[in-house]
Amino acid sequence: MFESKAGVFLIAGIGFFALSFLVMGLLPWTIYYNEPELTVEQIAAKGILPDFVDLAERFPDQFKDHFGEVSEKSFAEALALGHQVYVAEACWHCHSQFIRPVSNEDLRWGPVSHALEYQNRLQRPVLFGTRRVGPDLSREGGVRSNDWHIAHFWDPTSVTPSSVMPAYKWFFDADGYPNKRGMAVITYVQWLGSWLKEYPYYHGDGPSGPTTQPAFPTRTPASRPAAAG
Ligand code: HEC
Repeated sequence: MFESKAGVFLIAGIGFFALSFLVMGLLPWTIYYNEPELTVEQIAAKGILPDFVDLAERFPDQFKDHFGEVSEKSFAEALALGHQVYVAEACWHCHSQFIRPVSNEDLRWGPVSHALEYQNRLQRPVLFGTRRVGPDLSREGGVRSNDWHIAHFWDPTSVTPSSVMPAYKWFFDADGYPNKRGMAVITYVQWLGSWLKEYPYYHGDGPSGPTTQPAFPTRTPASRPAAAG
């Protein structure tokens, strides 16, 4: 069979295609097909991110104009808008949202992604991404402070001198405060991965995950909402 080209084509072309379709398409589907797809409101009902409250406290007037009060409703609105901005600005051109079970990606970015994490409205369209000009963002929540994100969106090279990420000056109003889109995209980015119960990277009171994780600033999982995925 392996002597003929047809045999190789059969195994490589059809055999491996069928195998990957089975393992990566059908298998996850059979595991999760009866899990409901969460709406943004259901995600928000799991708990309001401390980072969203932080934006309200830091920029009270602007926050009031954009989102009103801190509530599940305004949190859901910010998440949905942040997700739209992420899609519209093509952040996914440079950032993936998928921790693969290879190349020690879990040491670099945190727990390997599983299918259930994508079973919600904020993953439509699925934002796996195709390449990584910048780092994977699926565990970005809590890795950085809101302040850091604000500085970074204003001018990425101000915090990462060698960065090739474009500046997003249109995330800010004329006074330099984050505008509605800016606050929304920061809320969205701070949400990414926050559903993991044992999330090791939060900034705050010291490492809470496995000691093999890189020494990012950490936040205690207790201050995070319960799992969303
Ligand atoms: C041209 C490619 C490119 C685009 C487009 C891009 N980024 Fe980036 N991004 C990068 C690179 C490269 C880095 C790593 C260097 C740095 O920190 O700026 C990065 C870093 C980041 C980080 C910090 C990750 C960390 O914790 O170190 C965040 C958050 C981020 N990007 C979010 C976004 C968002 C949101 C958008 C869309 C509004 C976006 N990026 C668009 C290239 C890009």
